[in-house]
Amino acid sequence: MQVAVTAALLLCATGASAADAAHGKRISYTCLGCHGIDGYKNAYPSYSVPKLEGQHPEYLGAALTGYRDGDRAHLTMHSQASILSDADIADIAAYFAGKPLAPTGRAPAGVPKAAALCTSCHGADGVAVAPLYPSLAGQHEDYLVRALEEYQRGGRKNPIMKQFAANLSADDIDTIAAYYAHQSPALKTEERPYTILGLASEHR
Ligand code: HEC
Ligand code: HEC
Repeated sequence: MQVAVTAALLLCATGASAADAAHGKRISYTCLGCHGIDGYKNAYPSYSVPKLEGQHPEYLGAALTGYRDGDRAHLTMHSQASILSDADIADIAAYFAGKPLAPTGRAPAGVPKAAALCTSCHGADGVAVAPLYPSLAGQHEDYLVRALEEYQRGGRKNPIMKQFAANLSADDIDTIAAYYAHQSPALKTEERPYTILGLASEHR
């Protein structure tokens, strides 16, 4: 009895409802077919599948909810996310994020003028300052371009980013994407913890 009460208190203190990354890993092996292969590309149009490791889990969760509920247009990601509950999303986000990038406090000298407004949320070095803002450091350059174009076109509906992307020229977008893609500490492609064979043996 005493033990149970202590355990319950402990769970509360550490956030028992917090995301379960181990469960997230178990239910996300299909994701690794794309997100676990370095340099894997979306087929059409062609651009790199985003890196997820080091991202804020809160942001990854928001992104998945966005694909599920239609705030972000992408057919595959919509069907992937549409079968996930809110709890599944939190668990998967915790697994993929791993250890989120920590701000370094460094202010790189070469921030392009076009990115001056972006740094207040995404950081001068691309490490986002708050959990709901994505880190951009080390993300694939062609994916960053694609994302900004989608905010301009309306395929992504986030009102904050719609506003900040609206006035960027194509040159601005290229410059910003190149800048953030080369920052570090950098986001990474998830390591594939098991192959198809490994998975099969796990289930044997
Ligand atoms: C067929 C390949 C494919 C599979 C399978 C796939 N994804 Fe994706 N994922 C993509 C692509 C491509 C994008 C970028 C879509 C866009 O342009 O918005 C993406 C975007 C994302 C994002 C947004 C990242 C960001 O920086 O905003 C998250 C999070 C994500 N996927 C998680 C998952 C999870 C979790 C699964 C499994 C349940 C999964 N993906 C399965 C290809 C895939
Ligand atoms: C007030 C905070 C804020 C500012 C300023 C801001 N952003 Fe964002 N940014 C966000 C949020 C929030 C999201 C996530 C939106 C969503 O869910 O689609 C985001 C998403 C993005 C993404 C998509 C990342 C991914 O992984 O898919 C890119 C690229 C981006 N921002 C670039 C920029 C650029 C370039 C600027 C400056 C011109 C800028 N942002 C200014 C808050 C901000």
